[in-house]
Amino acid sequence: MVTYIEANKTKRKTLGIIPLYDEEGFAKMRKAGQLTAQALDILFEKVRPGVTTLELDRIIFEFAKDNGAIPATIFYRGYRHSICTSINHVVCHGIPSNKPLREGDIVNIDITLIVDGWHGDSSRLYPVGNISRKAERLIEITYEAIKRGIEQVKPGNKIGDIGAAIQQYVESQRASVVRDFVGHGVGQRFHDEPNIPHFGTKGTGIELREGMIFTIEPMVNLGRPNVKILADGWTAVTRDRSLSAQCEHSLGVTKDGCEIFTNSPKGLFNPLEAQKNNK
Ligand code: MF3
Ligand code: CO
Ligand code: CO
Repeated sequence: MVTYIEANKTKRKTLGIIPLYDEEGFAKMRKAGQLTAQALDILFEKVRPGVTTLELDRIIFEFAKDNGAIPATIFYRGYRHSICTSINHVVCHGIPSNKPLREGDIVNIDITLIVDGWHGDSSRLYPVGNISRKAERLIEITYEAIKRGIEQVKPGNKIGDIGAAIQQYVESQRASVVRDFVGHGVGQRFHDEPNIPHFGTKGTGIELREGMIFTIEPMVNLGRPNVKILADGWTAVTRDRSLSAQCEHSLGVTKDGCEIFTNSPKGLFNPLEAQKNNK
């Protein structure tokens, strides 16, 4: 059983219900999503061999402060940074450190900025200098996967249609989809209902309705889908140490499709592609 409520008319104490937002909520998400996208745009120039992920974290902390936003991850369940930086075989939730990025690394940077209480959650995969063809292919697969997932977002489709489109494509490329982390409702809460798995069966799950707002954030591995969490309690890595990639958008279901809130104003959502086009 699913229940939907109008987000601005009810105080929710419990989960199990899916908020539906009106144009006011969409406008707030547009603002938060665009600031997050701007933050990720800044990093396009900054991600270079030799830079540390702590330096990048600092840049985003300052950017948020200058723009009246709060990074949602600071103090989130004991997390202490403004961004997550997941390098190579790190699947997600990598913690910024003082270790420099190296030529050939691939790094996912995930940012959630809170603007007026609304959460814009997005991540991109940045190549560090020149990367291997194998890493390039993984990035291409991941960006094509999110695109195919987003194409399924329209009223009447099911949540399972999103995961099915992503999984089917990724596995057809002989890569795998992580099961342990999923997309999520987002808005005035960081992680809300519903869950959006990046795997599944067409025609199953909750029906998408106009006004739903959630993320799609597939994690794609070149090896097996299995992950483990390191002793720091956060860093998720592939069990087989294979390369892993991710990208993420926050979006809202519209009358006949969806609106992506976290599109890059500069067309830099896929930094690898943007880099190639600039050459
Ligand atoms: N931004 C991540 C997501 O896409 C969540 C990061 S939580 C943290 O849902 F604490 F690890 F930062
Ligand atoms: Co998210
Ligand atoms: Co995120």
